[in-house]
Amino acid sequence: MGAPVLRQKARELSPAEIKSPEMKNLIRDMFETLEDYEGIGLAAPQIFESIALAIIHYPTDEAPKVIFNPKITVLDETKQGYWEGCLSIPELRGFVERPRKVKIDYLDLSAKPASITAEGFPATVFQHELDHLFGVLFIDRIVNRPGETLLSFTEEYVRYHLKEDSEEVD
Ligand code: NI
Repeated sequence: MGAPVLRQKARELSPAEIKSPEMKNLIRDMFETLEDYEGIGLAAPQIFESIALAIIHYPTDEAPKVIFNPKITVLDETKQGYWEGCLSIPELRGFVERPRKVKIDYLDLSAKPASITAEGFPATVFQHELDHLFGVLFIDRIVNRPGETLLSFTEEYVRYHLKEDSEEVD
């Protein structure tokens, strides 16, 4: 956090760029980074590439998703909240409320149009990662209310806020 690239709108990619060998290398590096920090999503601006690319692999997902040039549409405005963390904001957790159901239109690895509908926990994961492509961080989405702790260091999060069955966005 603090690197200007995290606040820029990421550039969309052409089909030729998406299908290039350089892109395959970049995506491989991103999956290695994601595994190293045991995360469930990573966006290209987080590795200092201001391009509209994100990878997502959450535990219940059958296969990892590679998303280019996404457009997000809210299908259900009803808010749901999860504690979120981020590789770009280490040692902090924030409780963020987001719409519970979204549709993502994007280009896949072959630069073909595709779409995903996500609800519940995966909907939050997609919104967190795709926010990175528009210069938005989870801390921007925290609506603070007096008397409530919605932003916490990881240590205090584990001590006071972590519930055994809770899913984490990281
Ligand atoms: Ni993040």
